[in-house]
Amino acid sequence: MLAPMAGVTDRPFRQLCRELGAGMAVSEMVSSNALLWGSAKTRRRIDHHGEHAPVSVQIAGADPDMMADAARFNVDHGAQIIDINMGCPAKKVCNVMAGSALLQDESLVGRILDAVVQAVDVPVTLKIRTGWDPEHKNGLRVAHIAEQAGIQALAVHGRTRACGYRGAAEHDTVRAIKAAITIPVIANGDITTPEQAVEVLRHTGADAVMIGRAAQGRPWIFREISHFMQTGRRLPEPGPAEICRILTGHLENLYAFYGEYTGVRVARKHIAWYSKGQRDGNTFREQVNRLESATAQLQFVRDFFARLADRQELAA
Ligand SMILES: Cc1cc2nc3c(=O)[nH]c(=O)nc-3n(C[C@H](O)[C@H](O)[C@H](O)COP(=O)(O)O)c2cc1C
Repeated sequence: MLAPMAGVTDRPFRQLCRELGAGMAVSEMVSSNALLWGSAKTRRRIDHHGEHAPVSVQIAGADPDMMADAARFNVDHGAQIIDINMGCPAKKVCNVMAGSALLQDESLVGRILDAVVQAVDVPVTLKIRTGWDPEHKNGLRVAHIAEQAGIQALAVHGRTRACGYRGAAEHDTVRAIKAAITIPVIANGDITTPEQAVEVLRHTGADAVMIGRAAQGRPWIFREISHFMQTGRRLPEPGPAEICRILTGHLENLYAFYGEYTGVRVARKHIAWYSKGQRDGNTFREQVNRLESATAQLQFVRDFFARLADRQELAA
């Protein structure tokens, strides 16, 4: 599964990851604050036109009634699964006591989950961290609360809120949670290769793995994982020509979704990710970031990858 990432997992990226083998892709979070629903950002986040089912939309907030309203609002706009964010440590989310900050208040967790599950007819899932900080790893208790509330699947990022993104994710807590509850459990955190995905599944007994940062600029990681799980062998890495085909298709979809002005700007970070580790990538990124039009950006990307493909042929 593709992990929800604000500013990254927009509809074009979700669609691409699904086409390249992700079993599911969770949307960027939609705030439970109804005042924000009219904004251009939220309007784009609730646009699921042409999206592969099941459409899973993440909501974030700390007030049970507002969260229930947000769930209903998103179901009315096409969500087929509501995912609740109690896993995001971002300041913007935590300062208003939402995201992973909620893990501190287990009774509030219960009230939010009850309110959302009762508000909608679609499945409700939950994403958490392993706890508030290493001394307060209450992931297991929250998992029991979730199961009792009727949550249908639980994703666990193997870090505490206090850990931010530091250190390595641990999957022992995920394993303990999986052993203790009967709903599907999804393991998340630092999974970057097919071998790791298989190892985490084996170690935790989880029903799925969720990939975030390792899909940035490498949306084909999902088909690599499925292939490895089915055959025990690695798919060859895509070459420059194939990366170029995937990236330019992605860019066209970004321009169509955001319009040219915003599309070109959103595209820059994706282009940087796709070109990471490629020869002359630094110079390429500096130059491509200065381009303002979709045509120029696309052509520059095509030329860069064509040069890489020529070099590869010469070397072969
Ligand atoms: C840029 C970025 C944005 C994120 N936004 C969200 C979010 O909106 N909701 C959420 O539950 N988690 C969010 N996360 C956390 C990821 O879903 C995931 O749990 C985390 O990155 C660990 O997985 P990974 O090691 O595979 O990246 C975000 C992570 C990143 C890097």
